[in-house]
Amino acid sequence: MRLLVTGGAGFIGANFVLATVRDRPDVRVTVLDSLTYAGSRESLAGVDTQIRLVQGDITDADLVGRLVGESDAVVHFAAETHVDNALADPEPFVRSNIVGTFTILEAVRHATASRPVRLHHVSTDEVYGDLELGDPAKFTESTPYNPSSPYSSTKAASDMLVRAWVRSYRLTATLSNCSNNYGPFQHVEKFIPRQITNILTGRRPKLYGTGANVRDWIHVEDHNSAVWKILTHGAVGRTYLIGADGECDNLTVMRTILRLMDRSPDDFDHVTDRAGHDLRYAIDATPLRDELGWRPAHRDFEAGLRDTIDWYRHNRSWWGPIKDAVEAAYQSRGQ
Ligand code: NAD
Ligand code: TYD
Repeated sequence: MRLLVTGGAGFIGANFVLATVRDRPDVRVTVLDSLTYAGSRESLAGVDTQIRLVQGDITDADLVGRLVGESDAVVHFAAETHVDNALADPEPFVRSNIVGTFTILEAVRHATASRPVRLHHVSTDEVYGDLELGDPAKFTESTPYNPSSPYSSTKAASDMLVRAWVRSYRLTATLSNCSNNYGPFQHVEKFIPRQITNILTGRRPKLYGTGANVRDWIHVEDHNSAVWKILTHGAVGRTYLIGADGECDNLTVMRTILRLMDRSPDDFDHVTDRAGHDLRYAIDATPLRDELGWRPAHRDFEAGLRDTIDWYRHNRSWWGPIKDAVEAAYQSRGQ
């Protein structure tokens, strides 16, 4: 299989490429990534002789058309992904997430005229908006879209484009909406790596608001095993929700990190809350489990956090050079 992976130098995409090269020698991987602040060549250094990395933008129709034309399947991870950045400047989110996905869809549509090209579109549970705290309800495939932020609204728009291209042009596409990922190679702007690297650099961790907000955590390797399952066995046109029953409030995550790093439970700062901060996300992944037989391999969140802390401890050269600038940007926003 000739596989095009957009955003393959980002957090989830790089983990996906590393696992694919390790486990699937029959797959020839091309990564298309514009290497924004969130993309890193170094994340792919371990496989650089086994893949092709093309630095380019998913809104570049000629380039995307050429690469899709050489591929049997496309997994589309590339996006602007950080809610706080979207609040500060939404324009790149509209461009990469909406126009970029449109560009991919058009390239797949044109390539499909001569032979089938399968597309998997990677999205987020944030498209569904948020749930109440303490409510037993979870997101399902039939939950109405109700995005809150400039990030989630652009991802919702991209999902709608994919669904329309499946219906109108019979694209062989699938979609997935996953909950919050954690694991190695995640940018230090995100919640878990920010707190770990704050402690490792002698800073205090930062909690937005009271920390009552709940996220449904999944290890990045489990997200990626689900993507492979859907790419190879998922029903065309279907949306699958990916989650591993990992609900946890932010204060508890914070205190677990502090304990695992031998700090006292109150050794953190409360900072300005995020505007429009979604309260709770939770995924019901029953169809993915029952219909496709997918199971997460990482069922112990604390063990996963411990491994993630170890990874950041031992890979300072990966995140160290960008840490000060990320914290300076947060500080200028009171966060
Ligand atoms: P990331 O920010 O770590 O990486 C995004 C990658 O996309 C980077 O390598 C960046 O250079 C690249 N990129 C951005 N704009 C581009 C453009 N215009 N052209 C080419 N490349 C571009 O993101 P991530 O956390 O790895 O997320 C990957 C995907 O998974 C996204 O679509 C995101 O919405 C989705 N997702 C993420 C999570 C999560 O918890 N991180 C959860 C569910 C879904
Ligand atoms: P984040 O990793 O940005 O993911 P998302 O907002 O897409 O779910 O944030 C996860 C949660 O952690 C979210 O409720 C916001 C909160 N948060 C903090 O409390 N402190 C921080 O420094 C960051 C970056 C996030």
